[in-house]
Amino acid sequence: MKKVRVFAPASIANMGCGFDVIGLALDEVGDILEITASEGDGLTITNETDVPIPEDIEKNVITPVVRSFLKKIGQKAQIDVTICEKIYPGSGIGSSAASSAAAAFGMNELFGCPLSEEEVVVCAMEGENLASGGYHADNAAPAVMGGIVLIRGYEPLDLIQLPVPGNFYCAVVHPHIVVTTKEAREILPKAVPMHDAVRQWGNVGGLVAGLCTGNISLIGHSMQDYVAEPYRKQFIPGFDELRGKILKAGALAMNISGSGPSVFALCDNKQVADKAGKILKDHFDALEIGSEVYVVKVSNKGAKLTHITI
Ligand code: HSE
Repeated sequence: MKKVRVFAPASIANMGCGFDVIGLALDEVGDILEITASEGDGLTITNETDVPIPEDIEKNVITPVVRSFLKKIGQKAQIDVTICEKIYPGSGIGSSAASSAAAAFGMNELFGCPLSEEEVVVCAMEGENLASGGYHADNAAPAVMGGIVLIRGYEPLDLIQLPVPGNFYCAVVHPHIVVTTKEAREILPKAVPMHDAVRQWGNVGGLVAGLCTGNISLIGHSMQDYVAEPYRKQFIPGFDELRGKILKAGALAMNISGSGPSVFALCDNKQVADKAGKILKDHFDALEIGSEVYVVKVSNKGAKLTHITI
């Protein structure tokens, strides 16, 4: 019997203009799984946290990840997973990706690392597909690799780790409004008008250039999204007014976190991030919408092994 204990961090998908192609990892917050492999052929998932997860393992994102890993390496095993820490589902900071990334990374460690980092991300994407009905990697890739990751292509998956300049913090608010990723994807039009596409790829280029050269103001003004935000912001009351207040407080940008309804403010220091966090909280309090706020550093650390027993 072999056992690993692994951590995978929370993440923010899209990073403004990078719909489905740019995501970042957050520090400290994340999921912890213990995974045991023994002789046999089966899977159990035990939840030791207070966070509700589906009782039917077919609905748990860990299941397709474990199965696709075993299929890829052509082995059978009895796998027992214990969820020791879990980000609240729907919090908008990559809850399903943290579980999927921890499962994929943990399985790879357990079996002696037969898969490359990109293949681990591909396994983690099976969990994202179950959760959202789409194979996007902009939470799963940073949750495995850490830092800010560009998904240059999906066929085949081509992942590029971008530098995290300065001292970046995100203030993230999770308002108690329910919007599933499936819904938030379904409302998007199937085609993007050329004018918006041109503005969007200009911004994606600007964001990547800003990150690579450490040009903080270029990063901030490149983070406007013309593809998903115009359709999704209707789920977030007072979105434009809130952004005005956040930018006035000195944040570099404010965008929807992944598919929402969470919103994040990107800041280049902790003081501004704390201030932004308070504005985010006050905004939803004034609307009598409950919320949680996190102020977290953008992290270069991805999934990691914290313990192994062989
Ligand atoms: N890129 C995905 C979306 C992220 O925006 O639908 C989901 O968290």
